[in-house]
Amino acid sequence: MPTALLTGITGQDGSYLAELLIKKGYRVIGVARRSSTVNYERIHHLLDDITVVQGDLQDQGSLLAMLEEYKPSEVYNLAAQSFVPTSWNQPALTGDITALGVTRMLEAIRFVNPKIRFYQASSSEMFGKVMEVPQSEETPFYPRSPYGVAKVYGHWITVNYRESFDIFAVSGILFNHESPRRGLEFVTRKISDGVARIKTGKAKELRLGNLEAQRDWGFAGDYVEAMWLMLQQDKPDDYVVGTGETHSVKEFCEIAFSHVGLDYKEFVVMDEKFYRPAEVDLLISNPAKTRKQLKWEPQVSFKELVTMMVDADVARHQKS
Ligand code: NAP
Ligand code: GDD
Repeated sequence: MPTALLTGITGQDGSYLAELLIKKGYRVIGVARRSSTVNYERIHHLLDDITVVQGDLQDQGSLLAMLEEYKPSEVYNLAAQSFVPTSWNQPALTGDITALGVTRMLEAIRFVNPKIRFYQASSSEMFGKVMEVPQSEETPFYPRSPYGVAKVYGHWITVNYRESFDIFAVSGILFNHESPRRGLEFVTRKISDGVARIKTGKAKELRLGNLEAQRDWGFAGDYVEAMWLMLQQDKPDDYVVGTGETHSVKEFCEIAFSHVGLDYKEFVVMDEKFYRPAEVDLLISNPAKTRKQLKWEPQVSFKELVTMMVDADVARHQKS
């Protein structure tokens, strides 16, 4: 039975990847940082099938100790300070976790067992003020937030450890992926939750920022399969993962509200508080390499994703 160690197990992607790896017969070790109240909401249903260990990307010793103890053959580094607006309020913390945290994990691998295969959760946010449309593995980076800058560091240190120490280290450059398990502050979940609150009479409006921003949105459950595939290849490489389609925040609102018989124009209020100091206006992937080499295709369409999220939040609000 192969062992996989996942940082970020309590996050959206951690929960879907753990489900996938359990199905594939892995022993799954999930790393969670200590907090005064446990936040296992997304992995409650998995607790009998995984081992949760305490550790933190800010603490080198904890990473060394867990690799020594559990001897994984694959490490998926999903942990990060991942919310872009927070990265302007806490830029140094974001750099310490999202950038230097990658080096700490790579150092732990180098010292404990350089044969461990390593996946780094890189991001389309690295393309920022895009230098090319659509964006591929060859597109130069131009990050627009401290988060994006930190992810560029994480990407290049992964490439550097591959080239310097011959570690099987891959960087998955994933475009936005969402689900009913998405954090409530990200725009898609904020909209699906807002629609459900309005529909169930708990709220009268939904306050949002830039409705013109465009993203290449897919379903997180599909994207974790691509992560796994990257570590099963003969050689380590970098891959762009996305749908190849782009949609605006406004389009997301239109579909989400109309799915429950409402018109978004009557409820969405634009609020400058949610505008960013520097915006990423347009992201759209060119996933040709991933489709060809990994034979990976997204299964859930944009409309199915929006309606899945709205249905889940409406059901949740109807119960509570
Ligand atoms: P998420 O839901 O925000 O989860 C982030 C995870 O990181 C949580 O489990 C969090 O733990 C953990 N974490 C944060 N700081 C940590 C630290 N110092 N030590 C250990 N764990 C820590 O993010 P996600 O959407 O699942 O994304 C997974 C990864 O993919 C992230 O690296 C993200 O930046 C990247 N990414 C995401 C997308 C996307 O669209 N979702 C696209 C591209 C790349 P707590 O629960 O304790 O906070
Ligand atoms: N969060 C949020 N809240 N975003 C809003 C709002 C709002 O009220 N109104 C408009 N937006 C716009 C943002 O300005 C941005 O252009 C877009 O919606 C998407 O914002 P988020 O959902 O917060 O995601 P993100 O694209 O900034 O970052 C996500 O995707 C990255 C991959 O491209 C995160 O998951 C990152 O961790 C990930 O790397």
